[in-house]
Amino acid sequence: MSIVGIDYNKCSNCNLCVSTCLLFRKDKDQNKIIYIDNPKYQCNLCGQCIARCPEDAILYEGLGEALTYEGVKKPETIASYDTIFKFLAANRSIRLYKKKNVPPDTLKKVFEAMSRAPTGDNRRIEKFSILSDRNRIKKLNDAVLEALLSNQEGNERYGLLFRLISRRFHSPVYFDAPHVIFVDSEEDSEIEANNIGIIITYGRLAAQALGLGTCWNGWTQIAMRFNPQIKELANIKGNMMGTFIIGYPAVKFARSPPRFLKAIDGLD
Ligand SMILES: Cc1cc2nc3c(=O)[nH]c(=O)nc-3n(C[C@H](O)[C@H](O)[C@H](O)COP(=O)(O)O)c2cc1C
Ligand code: SF4
Ligand code: SF4
Repeated sequence: MSIVGIDYNKCSNCNLCVSTCLLFRKDKDQNKIIYIDNPKYQCNLCGQCIARCPEDAILYEGLGEALTYEGVKKPETIASYDTIFKFLAANRSIRLYKKKNVPPDTLKKVFEAMSRAPTGDNRRIEKFSILSDRNRIKKLNDAVLEALLSNQEGNERYGLLFRLISRRFHSPVYFDAPHVIFVDSEEDSEIEANNIGIIITYGRLAAQALGLGTCWNGWTQIAMRFNPQIKELANIKGNMMGTFIIGYPAVKFARSPPRFLKAIDGLD
């Protein structure tokens, strides 16, 4: 994975890459733009040079695909604030699912959107995985429940809740959703917590655009701290993780619930 250089058959010397990144500069003697991979200021593979170059002249390898489409230069023309606001306000945690699996191609689209999420320093060290086997989800459910209820505090907080929802669901921790998605990372840091949260948010919003429902599952994350076996059951290796369930929603909402605008210190 790297920026390789510049295709001089395409480059028009426009200087945009130079104004984008310190790793490009104009070589006056040769009268051309050059790319220098400087060990003191290393390329973090953010791809902004690729995205900015009007001639598609930046050479790279192993980074995946750069996309171009109508509106890419003016994102505000792709969706208005009104549309985005309504879409965000309509996002609900779904706890009732149809007994129907999501086709792999549709799930792949959710992962593709997750792969477009920003991460600190563009490190992208997080791993994605999915459980779709009912029996394996049940085993994980049981381990999470046991861990959550293993101490007095957990019992007080979750005991009654799970007694009640266990009457309705085979795997109450996951509300019998057909799939559970995990984003995990070997690194356990505040920035990783942010990265995972953003990745999951991208996935959940993409899922909504595909007619799917999702719900964050912090319970798995909490339980993992008490029982390391949960990592094995979830088939993840990392030390930090986020989880959400996904499937076709069996519930519709007539309105977006009340959310007051918080006081904004310093706005006026
Ligand atoms: C980080 C995070 C963890 C959550 N964990 C759970 C969970 O374990 N189980 C659950 O049913 N809902 C979980 N939720 C969903 C919240 O309860 C939900 O977002 C909140 O009640 C607002 O409802 P809404 O998402 O429908 O707007 C979680 C949400 C977030 C952001
Ligand atoms: S942005 Fe592209 S076309 Fe412009 S100078 Fe850089 S490589 Fe050449
Ligand atoms: S990928 Fe990012 S850091 Fe690397 S050369 Fe391009 S703009 Fe600079």
